[in-house]
Amino acid sequence: MRKRIAEILAAPEVGEQLQIAGWVRTRRDAAGFSFLEVGDGSSLANLQVIAEQTLANYRDEVKKLSTGCTVLVTGVLQESPAKGQSVELRADAIEVLGWADPESYPLQKKHHSFEFLREICHLRPRTNALGAVARVRSRLSYGVHTFFQERGFIQVHTPIITTSDCEGAGEMFQVTTPSASSVDSGEFFGRPAGLTVSGQLQAEVYAQALGNVYTFGPTFRAENSNTSRHLAEFWMVEPEMAFCDLARNRQLAEAMLKFLLRLVLTECAADLALFDRFIAKGLVAKLEAVVDQDFSHITYTQAVEQLQQSGQSFVYPVKWGIDLQSEHERYLTETIYQRPLIVTDYPAVIKPFYMRLSDDGLTVAAMDILVPGIGEIIGGSQREERYDVLLARMQQAGVDPLSYDWYLDLRRYGTVPHSGFGLGFERLVQFVTGMANIREVIPFPRTPGFAPC
Ligand code: 4AD
Ligand code: MG
Repeated sequence: MRKRIAEILAAPEVGEQLQIAGWVRTRRDAAGFSFLEVGDGSSLANLQVIAEQTLANYRDEVKKLSTGCTVLVTGVLQESPAKGQSVELRADAIEVLGWADPESYPLQKKHHSFEFLREICHLRPRTNALGAVARVRSRLSYGVHTFFQERGFIQVHTPIITTSDCEGAGEMFQVTTPSASSVDSGEFFGRPAGLTVSGQLQAEVYAQALGNVYTFGPTFRAENSNTSRHLAEFWMVEPEMAFCDLARNRQLAEAMLKFLLRLVLTECAADLALFDRFIAKGLVAKLEAVVDQDFSHITYTQAVEQLQQSGQSFVYPVKWGIDLQSEHERYLTETIYQRPLIVTDYPAVIKPFYMRLSDDGLTVAAMDILVPGIGEIIGGSQREERYDVLLARMQQAGVDPLSYDWYLDLRRYGTVPHSGFGLGFERLVQFVTGMANIREVIPFPRTPGFAPC
C-alpha cells in the first residue's frame, strides 16, 4: 500500500509491506548495499531505504541515484539498528521515475543561502527549511478557518478586482484592458479599477447583514517598500463583526493569535524544532510565552510618551501626531514590554477615513497589534457608523463620497456599531517560524522588481 512518510512514522508497523514515493536526499554506499534517504514532503523526517545489491536494477540504476531523483520504493518496514530513526524500509523494488543530473541540479547537500534559494523558487520547497515553512503555513491557514468557523463566523469571498481604495493610500495596482463594450471611457469596468488592498469594505457589507464574517484572501499593494516585512502581494485575514466595539475586537484578535500559536506548537512540533535550532534560537519558548501571557495594552498617546521618556534616539524623532515607524513599534514591543502589545486610539489624521472618530475629536478607535521581531502584525478599528461623521471624514481625507455611495448607504439604512481587523498572514508565518525575511514565508514572493515565476 502506498503511504506518506509522515503517516508511516506516526504509527510504524514493523513487517508491513508498503510503497513510498519521493525524492532522494542522499545516497550512501556500503558493502553489498546502499542507504537512500528519501523524503516526500509530508514531514521533515525522511525515511531510510535499504537497497541491496540483489535488486535487479542495483548496478545500473540504484548506484547512480543522486540528490533530487524521484523514486518509487516498495518494501518491508523493519526496525532500524541505526540511531535517530526507529524504522527503515528494506526495498524489494526501486523504480526510478525521474533522474536529476548531479552536475547541474542546483540543490546540493551544502547549505544554500535564502537569497540564492529565492532565485530558484521552483526548487526551494524541496529544502528542509522551505518545506517546513510550507507545512506550517498550511496548518495556520487551516487554523484560521477553524477558529472562525467554530465561532460561527461566515466566510465571505470578497472581490480581488475592485474600484475602491480601502486604505486610501493610492497603492492600488491598476487593472486595465481594452474593452469594446465601454468605448466611451475605454475602461473595461466603465471606471478605473484595481487589485484590492483589503477586503474590509466589502466584508463590512456582509457583516451588516450576517453579523460575524471573515475574509481570507490575497491583497496587493503597489508600495515601493523593499523591506523584510513588505510584499506587493500578501494574504490577509479580515474578520468583521456587527454590534462590536473596539474592546471586543481586541479580545478577539488576541484570542485568535493565541489559538493559532497553540495549534502549531502542538501540531507542527518537528518543523518548529527545526526553526528553533537553525533559524531563531529560543523560538518555541518565545511562542509558548506569548500563549501564556496577557497582551499589554496602551494608547497611542501613552506610547508616544513612553518612547519620548525612553532616552533612546530614533532615526524618526517621536512626537504626538507622527505615524509610528517600525523602529518605534519594535522598541515598544521588544524592549519596553517584551511581549505582544496592543496600541489603540491613534490620531485621526494618520488613519483612514473609515475609522470611528472618538469624542475628543482628535483620535480614532484604531488598534494595532505589535509583536517582537516583526512590529505591526494586525491593524484594525471600530468603524464609523454615523452617516454625517463618515461623510465629513471622507471629505477631509479627499475621498469622493459619490464613489462610496454604497458604503454610505450602509449608514443610512440600519446602521450598526461594528469593528474588525486585518492580520497580515505572512507576518504571522514569519513570527511563528522566526524567518528573518518575509520573502521566505510565501511560496512565490512578489516585491518591486521581482516576480520570477
Ligand atoms: O494595517 P493594514 O493596512 O489594515 C488594513 O488593510 C485594514 N483594512 C484591515 C482591516 O481592518 N480589515 O493591513 C493589515 C495588516 C498589517 O497589520 C500587516 O500585518 C499586513 O496587513 N500588511 C502587510 N503584510 C505584508 N506586506 C505588506 N506590504 C503589508 N501591508 C500590510
Ligand atoms: Mg496598518
